[in-house]
Amino acid sequence: MNAPTHTQGQTAAVSTAAAKERVVIFDTTLRDGEQSAGASMTFEEKLAVAELLDEMGVDIIEAGFPIASVGDFEAVSEIARRTDNAVIAGLARAISADIARCGEAVRHAKRPRIHTFVSTSPIHLKYQMNKTLDQVIEIIHGTVTQARNLVEDIEWSAMDATRTPIDDLCRCVEAAIRCGATTINLPDTVGYATPEEYEAMFRSVIERVPGADKVVFSAHCHNDLGLATANSLAALRGGARQIECTVNGLGERAGNAALEEVVMAIRTRADILPYATGIKTPMLLQASKLVSTVSGFPVQYNKAIVGKNAFAHESGIHQDGMLKNMETYEIMRPADVGVKATNLVMGKHSGRHAFKEKLKELGYELGENAFEDAFKRFKDLADRKKHVYDEDVEALVEDEIATIGENGRVMALTVIAGTGGPQKAIITMDMGGTHVTREANGSGPVDATFNAIRSIWPHEAKLSLYQVHAVTEGTDAQAEVSIRLEETGRIATGRGADVDTLVASAKAYVSALNKLSVRRQRSASEVTGAEPVRVGERV
Ligand code: KIV
Ligand code: ZN
Repeated sequence: MNAPTHTQGQTAAVSTAAAKERVVIFDTTLRDGEQSAGASMTFEEKLAVAELLDEMGVDIIEAGFPIASVGDFEAVSEIARRTDNAVIAGLARAISADIARCGEAVRHAKRPRIHTFVSTSPIHLKYQMNKTLDQVIEIIHGTVTQARNLVEDIEWSAMDATRTPIDDLCRCVEAAIRCGATTINLPDTVGYATPEEYEAMFRSVIERVPGADKVVFSAHCHNDLGLATANSLAALRGGARQIECTVNGLGERAGNAALEEVVMAIRTRADILPYATGIKTPMLLQASKLVSTVSGFPVQYNKAIVGKNAFAHESGIHQDGMLKNMETYEIMRPADVGVKATNLVMGKHSGRHAFKEKLKELGYELGENAFEDAFKRFKDLADRKKHVYDEDVEALVEDEIATIGENGRVMALTVIAGTGGPQKAIITMDMGGTHVTREANGSGPVDATFNAIRSIWPHEAKLSLYQVHAVTEGTDAQAEVSIRLEETGRIATGRGADVDTLVASAKAYVSALNKLSVRRQRSASEVTGAEPVRVGERV
């Protein structure tokens, strides 16, 4: 294989840019990603993700599934109102009420899209829908026509396309195009296809279906066999020009194709892939961190492109090569995906002005009160920690943002731990303006801390995930704790950071409780005339 260096690869990319075909990046982090077990996000978190995706150059943002809940509807509508550049899509089942609700949610967008789908494979038709193929084609006629009367940009998806006989698939696609679909998505819903099969499916449908040359074909791959990125690239060879993906590969089961992998594969292998995307790749790491924070899904260390170790070289031979020439072991420049050399930023003598400048550089703009709180916490951190890095400031500010508008907040914590047992925690919390102090024992300091919180804020939620990672290196590093709580079908994640792991744990637990209480209030006030999507129901 001819292997150009990455600088040569980029020169090639620039010189042949005119010959490259534009691939549309459709991000479904807020729909397929958010829908995956345990990844639900708050309204504000969804707005923040959408804003970043738009800024990063994503062409289409699938902002949610408006019929699913009032919360989803409101998030899609608000994202539609606020987004400057990207097309805003909402998902709708092949049901009239879904399509009407979706049309209502996206109508404020500068460029709205309705994305409607129906299953086409024999196994789905028989066991899930109890319908014949002819009945499904009737449904396609009705629903695509309805959607087309609401907006001009219609995406139609053949759910489980890769397990649909090609003749049946062609009939369905033909019906959708006749009724006005402008994008045809052929998902590998169950992550079953191999690259050769997926490419052949697109090639065949595009060759056989009348009108295929008038629409954009789209790939949507799940990662059950770890083939989602390879399949997405194979779809391009077969004629697709839109790729549906999510940040960090978040999504149903093993996830969706990861946006950062697809985009960087296209960019890095510009020598053999004649395509281009509009993504500003230096923002990839920032997007990854934001999605990891708000979803509560940590990024695995060895995750391609955005993992902590993606550019770390440990072995002696590799380090030796890197010192002589970076390109001996690096196919991408770390800066191209947003990885900066760890930065020693400030110490305890840094003032307000320097802190504000640092926040600006890291992309944060805080209101006056939040800034003052963050600054106080920064001073406190600088007193306790020798070196304060960019990552520390980011963790601190994310933590501060997460507490804005919360009902409960951790004010002080003392824990007595050690071999003697039982461990004991004494916690003071601000509960809507009132300070409450309680103590509790537990089997271990974390258990004691959570028991003390429970005695102030009683609840039935079960802890389903507790994860700690160090923000930077060294024994004085801040701990970042992620927590997932589950309560009668509702899931909430929380995050907290502090140099004291137990304080970080308490903050994360309380942050998850705050989210749960918002969710409880939301579902109590949700009134929609349309058929709701049941908890656990997946599309
Ligand atoms: O995986 C899938 O088939 C989907 C569709 C709704 C597009 O997510
Ligand atoms: Zn999917």
